[in-house]
Amino acid sequence: MSKFYLTTPIYYVNDAPHIGHIYTTVVADVVARFRRLAGDDVRFLTGTDEHGQKIERAAREQGITPIELADRVVARYAELWPRLGISHDDFIRTTEARHKKGVLALIERLREKGDLFLARHGGWYCSGCEEFKTEKELLPGNVCPDHARPAAWQEEENWFFRLSAYGDRLLEHYERNPDFIRPESRRNEVVAFVRGGLRDLSVSRTNISWGIPFPGSDGHVVYVWLDALTNYMTALGFGESSAADPRSPYSRYWPADLHIVGKDILRFHAVYWPAFLFSAGLPLPKCVYAHGWWLRDEKKMSKTIGNVVRPDHLIDDFGPDALRYFLLREMTFGQDASFSDEAFAGRYNADLANDLGNTVSRVTKMAADYFDGKTPPELDGDSPLRTSFEATLPLWKKAMTDYRFQDALNAIWRFLTDINQFVVQNEPWKIHKEDGSTARLSKCLWSSLESIRLVSILIEPVMPGTAASIRRQVGLPASPPLESDLVWGRLPVSQPLSAAGALFPRIDTKEYLKPAPGVPAESANKKETPMSQNETPGPGAPPPAATVPPPAETPKPKAEPEAAAEISIDDFFRTDLRVGEVVAAEAVPKSNKLLKLSVRIGENTRTVVAGIAKRYTPEQMVGRKIVVVANLKPAKLMGIESHGMVLAASQDGEPIVLTVDPAVPTGTKVR
Ligand code: MSP
Repeated sequence: MSKFYLTTPIYYVNDAPHIGHIYTTVVADVVARFRRLAGDDVRFLTGTDEHGQKIERAAREQGITPIELADRVVARYAELWPRLGISHDDFIRTTEARHKKGVLALIERLREKGDLFLARHGGWYCSGCEEFKTEKELLPGNVCPDHARPAAWQEEENWFFRLSAYGDRLLEHYERNPDFIRPESRRNEVVAFVRGGLRDLSVSRTNISWGIPFPGSDGHVVYVWLDALTNYMTALGFGESSAADPRSPYSRYWPADLHIVGKDILRFHAVYWPAFLFSAGLPLPKCVYAHGWWLRDEKKMSKTIGNVVRPDHLIDDFGPDALRYFLLREMTFGQDASFSDEAFAGRYNADLANDLGNTVSRVTKMAADYFDGKTPPELDGDSPLRTSFEATLPLWKKAMTDYRFQDALNAIWRFLTDINQFVVQNEPWKIHKEDGSTARLSKCLWSSLESIRLVSILIEPVMPGTAASIRRQVGLPASPPLESDLVWGRLPVSQPLSAAGALFPRIDTKEYLKPAPGVPAESANKKETPMSQNETPGPGAPPPAATVPPPAETPKPKAEPEAAAEISIDDFFRTDLRVGEVVAAEAVPKSNKLLKLSVRIGENTRTVVAGIAKRYTPEQMVGRKIVVVANLKPAKLMGIESHGMVLAASQDGEPIVLTVDPAVPTGTKVR
């Protein structure tokens, strides 16, 4: 059994968790669950970073001691993680004795190597970043661009680490291990930074006392980043004498297979951390993956503006799995993404209530009604859904292995579309009405149920609660599945099904987005919500009925829009429909409806302005294969010339863009 050790950053305790912290942890949890499904021996670590100037100051401002502050925030994490279905194996706090011991052991190794020296220096220190900045890195007024406040001049005698000696070795390591820093764009940034030359790094502080005392130097505490980075090893017992035992967690799991971090802290993980490990003669982690930032309505989240997205109301209103799904589906791992209540509610209704929830309830209800509350008695080894599943499986697996979570979810959702189409085409209700519960009906519904069982395994890493609930509905134990269950034909025949409520009850979007009395329209549901101390639903638990209206059984299609006048086939062929790929997208200034898209069709790229901004962000459109009316006369929209029109279905006035299988080349004619 191969081991897989993965970590999240450890979170500062000066702030309560927000969706940025939650995102990293959910991503790590998804990877951990995927690896467990594959049969790996997984170790998943998270924790809190409790020392340093920032924490010392925050505690002082609140009139409490740093450890009291840390205990409060740790209690919030302890409540939140199980509520979100996070399956970590260990939670490390940097104030624990096991951690301190390991930090001292690492410093000892750096000292033995001759890489530590004392020197006096002065510099601009940003306590937000917890690092010295060069003047080049600061804005006028010595303002830190990341924290929008001035860095402070600090002069002291510190211990230094000879980082400058490791530039070439780091560059060689990046060269030889192209997967050490991912994604590639971030790797290039780090390479450029190291090529620019490395300065020695101060690794002790004398102007604060909240930290681990630096060994052999009264008045010095260990620099918070040297302290914090070491958590990845101290949690495994590094620094304990037992660590040398080949059966110890340290021997088993170090080096880490994956450190997941935000882009703002990549340099610490991809430059300082490997340099410390080189110096200490210890193996390096295999991969540091840097993800992008969550913005709020395209703006940076900030406590001062009050637009930070906290998870509580989202979990209360929609359930933890909806939040997990949204975070993974909406952000391309590695790039920035924007959170909006509109996008969240839209995806919830379209992808979860409709595509997933309705398919499951429709199929299980028909099977129960027509086969006496049991799975149908005859299976189908040759169903077209088997072909669809077998095409989905390798795409899903490859995407999950490469951390392309959006692609993995897209593959599952395409399979869901096939399941729906299969049901619509076979009309089981008609078979039952005309011929009763025949073998044909049995095969049709067994195939649909079997597909749903398989969907429940494919979604398990992202939506563990929902996956368990689906398995219970189709009469299987809710316990986590194994990869070996991902085979067509495992659903037993004539087995009792169990009735269940809707997985994702549809919400009334207008009602949800309506501003609360006294709240301006643009901030409906957008306030920073405090962390609640509520009783918490388990993963996938349906949202409380009080906030979510009960679902329509099987949503009935709205009255068909009036049919247009008949046309001849020749009339139809006068419209040149082509497959295009969106290669760039941006919002049209002063319009809340329009997006300006650059669409590649064959060899050429053209501008198309589309009225889809209410439903799609520019990031969501980039990379999509769509259908364009290519021979439409150019028209000017908000001063931009548009050369074509994007096809979209109109659902309740909301445009749902028609997408095409990514394998179809651009320029292909649609007819
Ligand atoms: N304590 C350090 C990490 C030490 S790891 C040895 C730290 N803590 S943090 O609480 O400020 O941030 C933790 C993680 O949250 C970082 O990876 C950071 O990138 C991430 N995020 C904080 N805000 C974020 C967003 N708005 N969006 C996405 N992730 C962001 O840094």
